[in-house]
Amino acid sequence: MEITKEEYSARLDRFELQKRTVKRLWNVGEQTVKLLQLLVKIKQPHNILEIGASNGYSIFHLYSASEAFQAEIETIESDVERYNLACENLKGLERLTIHFGKAEYVVPTLKNSYDFVFLDANKSDYKNYLALLKTKLKKGALLVADNILSHEKTVAEYLNELSKDQSFTSITIPIEAGLEITLYEPKVES
Ligand SMILES: C[S@@+](CC[C@H](N)C(=O)[O-])C[C@H]1O[C@@H](n2cnc3c(N)ncnc32)[C@H](O)[C@@H]1O
Repeated sequence: MEITKEEYSARLDRFELQKRTVKRLWNVGEQTVKLLQLLVKIKQPHNILEIGASNGYSIFHLYSASEAFQAEIETIESDVERYNLACENLKGLERLTIHFGKAEYVVPTLKNSYDFVFLDANKSDYKNYLALLKTKLKKGALLVADNILSHEKTVAEYLNELSKDQSFTSITIPIEAGLEITLYEPKVES
């Protein structure tokens, strides 16, 4: 079932209100939303995973961007208050599952594999998330990581890991907090 225009704008109003009134949501900015939506529309993934839901703002935008091709969407949040907000804000969205817990424990339990992943949780753990995700990425998957410029030192190990592995082709996009966009193309042994 599609989101009606009225429902869409009511949910957006709610997110805007929370941005002004709730502390420590750390929602992505407008340019980041635009780029994420554009990538999703071009890629048309079947399975989207986000690590770091906060109150559900960015995943809501990925949900709406994937309406036409009905992607299955999952997100993970470890903070109980933000998880509860996300559950409330995303209530009734049929293609979406919100997992509660630390990604380190949740990711190994996930049954799907993914062709679009958005990393936006603990910046010092990006390298660990990558290791956990590797068996769950589909060939041709896009991996997008936020805060690459705002947390340059913290994410250095993640970028180093990507550069060492020939399966990954990666570029930093200098908008807002900085996004790393990475294509996963595992090499076939010859
Ligand atoms: C930058 S915020 C996410 C913002 C969200 N993507 C948005 O734009 O609306 C990061 C979130 O990751 C969550 N987080 C931190 N470490 C985590 C972990 N190990 N597993 C799951 N979530 C985590 C935090 O509680 C926080 O809500």
